[in-house]
Amino acid sequence: MTYSARLEFKPSGLIGISDKQIDEHWKLYEGYVTQTNNLMKQLADLREKGEGTTPLYLDRKRRFGFEMCGMLVHDYYFANLKAGVSDASAAEFKKLVSGKFGSFEKWKADFIATATTRGVGHAICYMDPITGDVNNHFIEMHSEGHMPGFQILLSCDVWEHAFLIDYAPTERMKYIDAFMANVNWDVVEERTIACFGKKASPRFAL
Ligand SMILES: [Fe+2]
Repeated sequence: MTYSARLEFKPSGLIGISDKQIDEHWKLYEGYVTQTNNLMKQLADLREKGEGTTPLYLDRKRRFGFEMCGMLVHDYYFANLKAGVSDASAAEFKKLVSGKFGSFEKWKADFIATATTRGVGHAICYMDPITGDVNNHFIEMHSEGHMPGFQILLSCDVWEHAFLIDYAPTERMKYIDAFMANVNWDVVEERTIACFGKKASPRFAL
């Protein structure tokens, strides 16, 4: 298994998030992909050499979680950004979050609040395909706080590297507003419908 950055889904022409910002962020994403592949090989090589219980192996294993989760949350992040997609296309998603939060607008306010959590991380709207529960979570350091078995419907990267070219560190809110104005609601809807069918939510736009 070798992973790759899915260039065909790289967003461009967004409102309030420049192509230069996306280019730089994409390079970091490619770094997570490269490190995921490198670490998979390093870990396999160490196991092959009978060093699968060494401190070096276990340290690499911990790093592997950070890098691979970094790759995966960025898969979701870039695929759920696209210019000019109206939230009118997310009818099932709206119904889902309205059931939990009272309305789409109340869900959105909670998602935005989640994204303002101090520290580096991702605001992620998760759905449990088993129970149908949906919630917004703050995932720190790519790998801390994920909901096992839940599926990602929407991922917003709020590490400063996601917006520092366009905004000052104190202007995260402006970036979050720009993110919300560029959500690919078609993909969010597709992920939601997949979860209703108890299937994995597609990381990429299809
Ligand atoms: Fe990022």
